Amino acid sequence: MTSQNFLESAAKKTSAQLIDHLLDQYHARHREHLPQVAELARQVEASHAEHPEVPNGLTQLLLSMLQELDSHMQKEEMILFPMLRQGRFAQATGPIHVMQLEHREHDASLQRLQATAKNLQLPADACATWTQLYQEVDTFMRELQEHIALENEVLFAARTRDAGQEVVE
Ligand SMILES: [Fe+2]
Ligand SMILES: [Fe+2]
Repeated sequence: MTSQNFLESAAKKTSAQLIDHLLDQYHARHREHLPQVAELARQVEASHAEHPEVPNGLTQLLLSMLQELDSHMQKEEMILFPMLRQGRFAQATGPIHVMQLEHREHDASLQRLQATAKNLQLPADACATWTQLYQEVDTFMRELQEHIALENEVLFAARTRDAGQEVVE
């Protein structure tokens, strides 16, 4: 699916359906996937410490991204998403702003990840683990970019669209 298509198909969902999709396909997925990618990075850094192209610091960076994402996703799960499910859009404006700022920090972390993983250019003598590591880093980067785009461009944009249907408290 092209990125335009995936945003268009998400735009047809209600906020509640989109939140369920985000929790299942992205929040749960990052929490399961990132530790696996970090473990591959640990193996590559340990086995190829002397290799001139070893992605030094990749394990640590992946673990710190896991922490950063986990705390961000907890805020969405406990504060913002319940507000959006309940149609409390005016109240959600502040939390949405904070999440957008944190998404920019994720973008900066993705840039660092790309550089630390040597632009995913494998050395000629890369072993199977190293090859798999860069494939998994590539997948993670794509999934995190999709996750951020769905929230910024569809879920948070829908808040404005639905603002006329605000539930009076
Ligand atoms: Fe999220
Ligand atoms: Fe987010």
